[in-house]
Amino acid sequence: PASGDLSGLRILVTAGGTREPIDPVRYIGNRSSGKQGVAVALAAADRGAKVVLLSANIDESVLAEARRREGIRIVPVSTTAELERAAIAAATGAEVIVMAAAVADYRVAEVSEAKIRKEDGGAPTISLVENPDILVGLVDERRPGQVIVGFAAETVESEEELLERGRRKLARKGVDLLAVNAVGWGEGFETEENALVVLDGDGQVAARAAGSKRETAERLLDTVLQDLHAI
Ligand code: C5P
Repeated sequence: PASGDLSGLRILVTAGGTREPIDPVRYIGNRSSGKQGVAVALAAADRGAKVVLLSANIDESVLAEARRREGIRIVPVSTTAELERAAIAAATGAEVIVMAAAVADYRVAEVSEAKIRKEDGGAPTISLVENPDILVGLVDERRPGQVIVGFAAETVESEEELLERGRRKLARKGVDLLAVNAVGWGEGFETEENALVVLDGDGQVAARAAGSKRETAERLLDTVLQDLHAI
């Protein structure tokens, strides 16, 4: 169902989860499947946008449809540093940025050249250093009229807490829209369905969407479109 209401727009979408190597065979990662971000890319392409999809460690089965879709260019990345480089390179050519990827907050301070072995002596201590916040960097370099959307996946006890955490994150990141969703055991990550609350720049609820990740993607893009028109 291509309405074409996003035709002429270039959209950068990041999806999946970054991995930080520990040694040549191990990494620190997260459970993000990339499904929500891929759904945003597919929905945007079907509505006429040109999409660059930065894919962080997404399963081929999840990417399959996007691979076949004209209008989506897939760029594979793995670490946060790779995602940052690719995002900065693609950002200047996009009217809309949707940062759906789960980005590792920390990376390993010294990646071991060789596989760490048990014989090397007991449980290793792994030191971490903070990664740059890619989203904050993109907001700092935002071009006029560009709409930047962040995601916030939170483990929360209540909807109230979800919104409160969302509003704090919104203020910290300076994004135009923040899509907030609850995650946890069996919620959000790795699932087919999602429930999003979209906050606008003032922290007001701009939209609520629940259903398949495709459906929530469509509602999110509706909100982005309203935001673009408002500028
Ligand atoms: O702070 P938190 O990780 O919850 O923020 C989530 C949002 O910020 C997501 O849009 C994510 O892609 C982005 N992010 C980022 N760089 C980081 C951490 C998160 O761009 N280092």
